[in-house]
Formats: sequence, C-alpha cells, structure tokens
Amino acid sequence: MTDAELIERATAARALAYAPYSEFAVGAAVLTADGRVFTGCNVENASYGLAICAERVALFKAVSEGARAFHRLAVVADTEVLVSPCGACRQVLWEFAPDLIVIVANLQGQMRVRPLRDLLPEPFDARVL
Ligand code: THU
Repeated sequence: MTDAELIERATAARALAYAPYSEFAVGAAVLTADGRVFTGCNVENASYGLAICAERVALFKAVSEGARAFHRLAVVADTEVLVSPCGACRQVLWEFAPDLIVIVANLQGQMRVRPLRDLLPEPFDARVL
C-alpha cells in the first residue's frame, strides 16, 4: 500500500462525510501492521459537540475489528492549508500507535508526512498511570 493509495482511500471516505453543520468534509484511512486498511469520515450531530473526526472513526473501526498495531494514517480535506489531526485525535492515535506516520493531503495533490511523535510531543499515556 503506497501513500498515494492510502490517500485515495481517505479521499473516497471523505465523500461519505456527514457534515451538514460545518460543511467541512474530512476522510481518513489507516493502514494496520498486518496490511489492512480501515477508512473513516467525520460524522456530525445536531448536538454539535458530539461530532467525531474522520481519524477517530477510522481508528475505532479498526480497533473494533481486532486491529491493534498501525503503521500509517492518511487524512484528506479540501483545503489549501493541509489539515492535521486535532489534539483529541492525536491523543487517541497515540494510545495505539506512538510510531504512527501521519500523511495529510488535500484534493489538489499536496501532501506532507510527519511522525505522530512530532505532532504530540508530550503525550499522556499508560506509562504514568
Ligand atoms: N474534523 C475531522 O474530521 N478531522 C480533523 O482533522 C479536523 C476536523 C472534522 C470535525 C468536524 O466535523 C469538522 O471537521 C469541522 O471541525
């Protein structure tokens, strides 16, 4: 699975976004250590605060299907400035994949690749519990 293919999967997921309130559609695709891909889109709610990001939908789908190890995640939105996962998603991703590589891309074909470790420099995790 190349990064371009993972971005394609995230782009296809983005088309399914349920975002009638923000009208900001986001797609994500996560590649598991055993080669599976799980996709997600953002899902909003009339009670605005209940919206869930595309990244967490993709990750939770994967975890609920038994996946526990992840290599790469692609996120796609239609923006000039590339959309990077929000703080909540960074924390949730960290739980399962501190070594995750995050690929952010837009519909114009621009992309950037960053380790999650750089996006979340002082994580909270089970080591302190
Ligand atoms: N959103 C995502 O799905 N992923 C991100 O990385 C940023 C924000 C969603 C949440 C909400 O449905 C909409 O984008 C606007 O914030």
